[in-house]
Amino acid sequence: MSTDSIRGLHHITLCTESAQSDVDFFVKVIGQRFIKRTLFYDGRIPIYHLYFADEMGTPGTVMTTFPLRRTGLVGRKGSGQFTAVAYSIPAGSIDFWREHLGKNNIPITAESERFGEKYLRFVHAGIDFEVVEDPTDLRAPWRSEYVPEQYAVRGFHNWTAVVRELEDMEVFLKTAWNFRLTSSDGKFKRYESGSGGAGKRIDILHEPDMRQGTWTLGQGIIHHGAFDVPDYDTQARVKFDAEGMGFTDFSDRKNRGYFESVYVRTPGGVMFEATKSLGFKMDEEEALLGTELMIAPELAKAYSRPDVLALMEREDPIHI
Ligand SMILES: [Fe+2]
Repeated sequence: MSTDSIRGLHHITLCTESAQSDVDFFVKVIGQRFIKRTLFYDGRIPIYHLYFADEMGTPGTVMTTFPLRRTGLVGRKGSGQFTAVAYSIPAGSIDFWREHLGKNNIPITAESERFGEKYLRFVHAGIDFEVVEDPTDLRAPWRSEYVPEQYAVRGFHNWTAVVRELEDMEVFLKTAWNFRLTSSDGKFKRYESGSGGAGKRIDILHEPDMRQGTWTLGQGIIHHGAFDVPDYDTQARVKFDAEGMGFTDFSDRKNRGYFESVYVRTPGGVMFEATKSLGFKMDEEEALLGTELMIAPELAKAYSRPDVLALMEREDPIHI
């Protein structure tokens, strides 16, 4: 399998509620590192863009959130979206997670098996999350003070997207995105890139009658999923080749500070991104990652640093 294409998952971007509830959930419950705090790079309204990941923000571990409660914008869940995020946990750790979620007053909404793997499902900010036991995931976890290392999440196990038309999405995944069908379980189909496994797979849930969800930024939806490419040449070729197949709904390359991205609306309606990592240490020392607000370039033209700090402290305060 070629590696000069999409390599696997990079980050996934959620529209949530408040910054504090994201910090509480991703740091204290999921056990991730709060690795970067910046502001949305698009639009005129200062909205936090928060990043939670492993120690260094390795592709396949990076969760990003836009806490949107202060805007009043609310999304509608449905097809044409990613709808669930699964983290992998070591075999035998489901019991720990059941108790850990209970201690944090997070109800378990489902406990079952899919593709022969045990999982727990729960909700944050209206979005479904899962922890899935996966003994094959050998990635090193972030050493969290909130979750013991032997139970800690290893990174993303998979993301679920819902589509109405499976065939068109499958063509895109296979021909444009370097993913192949590896298994099926009821209405779920699993697609993997490269060597497959945790961090290199997505699940597609086929729901032909589900109304399409909103594409706008709004609380309670996943806005897009981003996939890892090794370099700019690969990113350009993925875009060029997909456009050659008729998938012309691509953006130009956009600088997002810590990576550079092209976005594409896939045939299933789900927004994908192909991302070249630049790393998270360019503006903060390793030990201090995530401790200072990094103001997005366009907003820095419109707001002084003291003004934006005061605005965000008033509108969406974060206390660690
Ligand atoms: Fe993104």
